[in-house]
Amino acid sequence: MENQNKINIPNGVEAVNAVYREQVVEEYRGNPLIEALPNIYSKEAVIDRLAYYPEYNEEERNLDGHYRYHLVQRLFQYFQPLNIHIDLESRISRLIRQGYLARNPIRPQYAENLQIGYQMIKNQNMKLISNQIFRTTSYGFTIVGVSGMGKTTAVNRVLSMLPQIIVHSQYKGINFSLYQLVWIKLDCPHDGSVKGLCVDFFMKVDSLLGANYYKKFANGRLSVNSMLPVISQITRITNLGVMIIDEIQHLSTAKSGGSEKMLNFFVTLINTINVPVILIGTNKAMPILQSEFRQARRGSGQGDMIWERMKQDDSWDILIEGMWDYQWVKKPTHLTQELKDVLYEESQGITDIAVKLYVMAQIRAIDR
Ligand SMILES: Nc1ncnc2c1ncn2[C@@H]1O[C@H](COP(=O)(O)OP(=O)(O)OP(=O)(O)O)[C@@H](O)[C@H]1O
Ligand SMILES: [Mg+2]
Repeated sequence: MENQNKINIPNGVEAVNAVYREQVVEEYRGNPLIEALPNIYSKEAVIDRLAYYPEYNEEERNLDGHYRYHLVQRLFQYFQPLNIHIDLESRISRLIRQGYLARNPIRPQYAENLQIGYQMIKNQNMKLISNQIFRTTSYGFTIVGVSGMGKTTAVNRVLSMLPQIIVHSQYKGINFSLYQLVWIKLDCPHDGSVKGLCVDFFMKVDSLLGANYYKKFANGRLSVNSMLPVISQITRITNLGVMIIDEIQHLSTAKSGGSEKMLNFFVTLINTINVPVILIGTNKAMPILQSEFRQARRGSGQGDMIWERMKQDDSWDILIEGMWDYQWVKKPTHLTQELKDVLYEESQGITDIAVKLYVMAQIRAIDR
């Protein structure tokens, strides 16, 4: 992000001022929430922005061991974009824009929706009121896969390409003052409690926007049933682009009814508020994602992402070769096919283990 464009939100975090960009895609034109997003990037631009190659200087190899132990830690920052990450970036980029299609703040329907949200809070009811006809443009998807494959890291890298908060003040010469919260990411609490997740949501929004929701809604004795409509109203007011919930497998251990309530809520967010939702979890999350959440994705044509263990293919080579550039040992080793094979065998194609093995091997070598 360009520096001069930064702005501080009182009691909140740093945000960017809206810059409205010309849209190539016709349906995106005239929607300030979409026009204020960064450009839609080409594949090459995505790779360039996602990659993270830590500092490295060959002379560091001559440093004493006790320093080099610390330098090796930099490998955990290393991020090598692969095909799956390009796919993920494109999905998230589309998902956010599609969600905003039906929530154009300069259309009269926008105010109407805010009013409906207010009614939902009053009635403690998330059901649609009478025969409202809603046009749903948003959808959700899930990312499920073995632990340590890099799901969280990948999503975080993709999100880092987007400003989290955009401040609007004027659009096409008219006063147009609002915050746009492009994304919010929460971890499902370990006990799978819906209330815990709600409280996290309030606290996160407060810390970002300098709001006061926690004190107002989470501190008292408000039940989950009363909190959920409040949350959905906050997602409207803040023009939330996408809600991401990680560690969703914890929901499965929830007390009776917990996971169902939460999943129903996500479906409501998608179908009636038009806020897209991405759920991330290990394979343990599969069963709970089979039922309710599947409904919300119908017709979206965007399948779930199954994050399998890596095969020993080109992607694997790119990952390993990229990491091999970082050696803080006195005598660097060339990457041979044998070493690649061993690394694959020992890690079973799990990224986390491959990186850790490589780090541990260096620590061992420094040790000796
Ligand atoms: N593309 C990548 N390039 C380099 N390292 C990576 C990459 N992807 C993942 N890693 C490494 O794998 C580690 C584990 O990734 P991460 O924690 O994101 O996995 P996860 O799939 O979210 O696991 P869990 O299901 O347990 O939460 C990261 O800390 C990082 O070191
Ligand atoms: Mg994770």
